[in-house]
Amino acid sequence: MSNSRAIVAKILCSLLNDRGSLNTLLGNHKDHPEFSLIQESSYGCCRWYFALESLLGQLLNKPLKKQDLDIKCLMICALYQLRELEVAEYAVINESVSATLVFKKPWAKGLVNAVLRGYQRKKEELEQTLTAGQKNKDLAFPGWLELEINTQWPEQAISVFQNSNQRPPMTLRVNLAKNSREQYLELLAEAGVAASIGSLADSALYLDKPAPVTDLPGFAQGRVSVQDEASQLVPSLLQLEPGQLVLDACAAPGGKSCHILESEHSLTSMTSIDMSQAKLDRIRENLERLDLESNLIAADAGEIQAWWNGEPFDRILLDAPCSATGVIRRHPDVKLLRKPAQINSLGEIQSELLSKLWACLKPGGLLLYTTCSLLRQENEETIRRFLDSTDDAKYEAIAADWGVECAFGRQLLPGTSSGPDGFFYAVLRKESA
Ligand SMILES: C[S@@+](CC[C@H](N)C(=O)[O-])C[C@H]1O[C@@H](n2cnc3c(N)ncnc32)[C@H](O)[C@@H]1O
Repeated sequence: MSNSRAIVAKILCSLLNDRGSLNTLLGNHKDHPEFSLIQESSYGCCRWYFALESLLGQLLNKPLKKQDLDIKCLMICALYQLRELEVAEYAVINESVSATLVFKKPWAKGLVNAVLRGYQRKKEELEQTLTAGQKNKDLAFPGWLELEINTQWPEQAISVFQNSNQRPPMTLRVNLAKNSREQYLELLAEAGVAASIGSLADSALYLDKPAPVTDLPGFAQGRVSVQDEASQLVPSLLQLEPGQLVLDACAAPGGKSCHILESEHSLTSMTSIDMSQAKLDRIRENLERLDLESNLIAADAGEIQAWWNGEPFDRILLDAPCSATGVIRRHPDVKLLRKPAQINSLGEIQSELLSKLWACLKPGGLLLYTTCSLLRQENEETIRRFLDSTDDAKYEAIAADWGVECAFGRQLLPGTSSGPDGFFYAVLRKESA
């Protein structure tokens, strides 16, 4: 298929039918000559889906049938391009009309043409209806998630929505074992790449504009990695020391495992587990590039009898699977994929992993629980439930000047263009017998 609008419509349809993620679906089109337009439009359609759907609803005389989701997605894509991109409007309309033939629906030609021309004509008036009174549509959040965020973060909700709708920054983690942040900043300047330093983690740099990793000096030699600043806070919270045995229980693609190894060179051992064998290859690639070593295990971390040799760990990082509501700016498909019922089942999975892994922690040892979620059900409530049911677990507050202190744990909310992702951290200590 060569029509780029039809490709975007198909990607959107798959997402709405819960068949794949944006990343994997886009991966099939990397060689398309218009890949950057396909990528930009697919991200944009996800980011603004609920606003675009509302605009479309006002332009249609009656809703489309379920079996015509492809035509609906085609018009959503076209509306996105007319609204947000600087592309020739006639090209958007002509190409979208001819894309109806890709779906073998010539009857839709007239409809697509009329809807898009209607948008051109009535743009201002339609946009006004969005901003007046339809908050969740204007902000393009699904209603259930807008309600959760408004209820849980009433003071910060508007900035959470706004920052989650921005394009994310490209953030680097300087390998402080190989160069200082200042030295690397100079290398970047010499290469003509503008950047500024992060304010939370001493390894973080924000690029003014995203760049391919091949443009980053010394990337292949492990001088630097790509990682959000929120994740870069992990090693310091783990209170690493020489001689420790460390476990990263949900490790792929390995950003945090690698950073732990960069931060403390004299660990006795590092173990990185992930359920997905395919994703372990990503950890291996990262370790090789950075010249680091970890014991890689493909397993369900909760099934400890399948992978644990019985030697307790001094430190455990549980970067738990979660709703990813803190990283919507990087993964806008979260808005389409996540359903309210999943939040409770994620909470159960998180609790299960936490209680199983607790057995692998040495008395006196420390477990750091993290998620990239903004929802308390997955964060402080998971920790509260665990503390209620675990006698030898002690909560340690994180003393810091960043984020919001919660009843149990500390929450970063999604930052601006030079700020971190939304992320949650809680430190638990196992009491000595
Ligand atoms: C939030 S990501 C981890 C990101 C990683 N810590 C990093 O910084 O690069 C969650 C990972 O957990 C893995 N996962 C989910 N459930 C798991 C389980 N029960 N056992 C092991 N890994 C699991 C997923 O495959 C996914 O790679």
